[in-house]
Amino acid sequence: MMENSNDTRGINALEFLEHKHDEIDELFSQFEEIKDNGDDTQKEELVARICEELTIHAKIEETIFYPAARRAVQEQGQELLDEAAVEHQTLKDIVGRLEMAPTSDPLYDAGVKVLSEYTKHHVREEENELFPKVRQTNLDLQALGQQLAERQQELESQDQRTSQNGRTRGTAQRGQGTGSRGSMSESRSRSTH
Ligand SMILES: [Fe+2]
Ligand SMILES: [Fe+2]
Repeated sequence: MMENSNDTRGINALEFLEHKHDEIDELFSQFEEIKDNGDDTQKEELVARICEELTIHAKIEETIFYPAARRAVQEQGQELLDEAAVEHQTLKDIVGRLEMAPTSDPLYDAGVKVLSEYTKHHVREEENELFPKVRQTNLDLQALGQQLAERQQELESQDQRTSQNGRTRGTAQRGQGTGSRGSMSESRSRSTH
């Protein structure tokens, strides 16, 4: 019999997602606190963490939560899900730019701020409009919560493996003073040729 040390049974999907929203919000608050005094490494690590968390969160919503919600909610809920999908695109676009930009980019802090505000807006719509609609359906929120938690754990452990390499590489690059990683104000396509 398989025993899981991280017991994910009995987690309500909506509470699970709300808890994640709070954690991400807390990371943005931490950035606000360090942005003027923190060194570049601190900022870069915190922003990398924010981007990773948002990427994983978007992924589990898009692959598990939104499709389940889509099958369950009525027309109004469908529109909210369409909007949420578009908002995720914008979030991922800003995340992509931040991941490419060096902390010395003059628009770096502004990029984090816009990401923070946009995330807050998106989260408010999920929690205040979409989740109440989902709550009215007969979706099994406990089973869904368990799926979300399991997928979250998988993605986190994959991410830890890749970010260990990534962080070492990032530090080395900064040491060499490369200014060509990308920028907040230009399209990411620049870095692909
Ligand atoms: Fe979302
Ligand atoms: Fe969310």
